[in-house]
Amino acid sequence: MAESTPPAVTARQLCVVVPTFNERDNVPKLFAKLDTALAGIAWEVIFVDDNSPDGTWAVVRQLAQTDPRARCIRRIGRRGLSGACIEGILASSAPYVAVMDADLQHDETQLPKMLGLLTADKAELVVGSRYVSGGSADSFGSARLGGSVFATKIATKLLHVNVADPMSGFFMIRRDRFEQLAPSLSVQGFKILLDLVATAGGKLRVVEVPYSFGTRLHGESKLDSMVVLDFLGLVLAKMTHDLVSLRFLLFALVGSVGLFVHLVTLYILSERYGVEFAESQAIAAFVAMTGNFFLNNRLTYRDQRLKGFSIVRGLLLFYLVCGVGLLANVGVAFSVYDQEPIWWLAGAAGALMGVVWNYAVSSLFVWRAK
Ligand code: GDD
Ligand code: MN
Repeated sequence: MAESTPPAVTARQLCVVVPTFNERDNVPKLFAKLDTALAGIAWEVIFVDDNSPDGTWAVVRQLAQTDPRARCIRRIGRRGLSGACIEGILASSAPYVAVMDADLQHDETQLPKMLGLLTADKAELVVGSRYVSGGSADSFGSARLGGSVFATKIATKLLHVNVADPMSGFFMIRRDRFEQLAPSLSVQGFKILLDLVATAGGKLRVVEVPYSFGTRLHGESKLDSMVVLDFLGLVLAKMTHDLVSLRFLLFALVGSVGLFVHLVTLYILSERYGVEFAESQAIAAFVAMTGNFFLNNRLTYRDQRLKGFSIVRGLLLFYLVCGVGLLANVGVAFSVYDQEPIWWLAGAAGALMGVVWNYAVSSLFVWRAK
């Protein structure tokens, strides 16, 4: 067989990974800015789009048809900034990778300097930092700035992270180092840099480069108050070496709200309205389960939230799961009571069995991770 020569393609030295969700108008502008800032460097950009309703992915595809330095990963049925960044980085073979936002809030003119620090082996990770001298976050409202500074303090204390701006969404890293850490990273949430630094446990040589966090060009921020939950979840997981998951704690918390709702409904129906006890109990159970379903859908499984017709299907399945959970709860409680007739021990063992069952089976069947 004749030997074939591969077509002449320059190996990329730098890959810029840009997570996008509804950033259609920002994509061409960012690409033009990268082109100017990275003149003389062999670079590519991978946009990782979570199937944006505004068709961001289609804009990237069109761009990639005219310029092969642009690439697109379109993810369907998934959401999440960290997961998108991880997938983009792993899809590239360039020895250096940067992560930045699509909305031009990060300063692309810092990229050559960041790359220089890595290639000269002055660092293995370079962070675009708002909180070192020369950097700023003036575009942040005071509430968000306060939150960011507070979260940074917590992270530095609890996770022993020695970086001024571990919440930054702007950084560059050696791909080999990233690849070593990747299996331990969380795909949920927003804080990929904090996760990287905490997971590396002081073993990464980090240098921070100041930059000014600008104002968003088009569109709006996707980060809502739920970032607080994501942040707490990450801190908890890292502190306990992934033993305690925030999802389970939230599920248990919602469960205890459900117990309260159940008792209140039962009281109102049977005591106030004189409804038969058995009937009141059944109605109260349905009210509590329904409430719990919607709370879990908003909070515990907010990243896999069911919408449209899936809600009906999910709700019916949830009733079924909780029904069996209740049987398991009562069964365990009876057998413990049989051994050791201590009412609270038997009750607690039953409740624990119920919540573990409900959690495990709901995660499998109601909110299936895609
Ligand atoms: N693929 C994907 N999936 N991209 C997402 C998602 C998602 O679920 N959510 C947000 N993005 C993209 C946005 O389109 C944007 O390009 C980037 O991630 C950052 O989202 P913004 O909504 O612009 O966040 P922000 O400006 O409020 O906060 C950013 O900057 C902070 C300071 O550096 C984030 O990068 C924060 O993590 C960071 O702390
Ligand atoms: Mn932004």
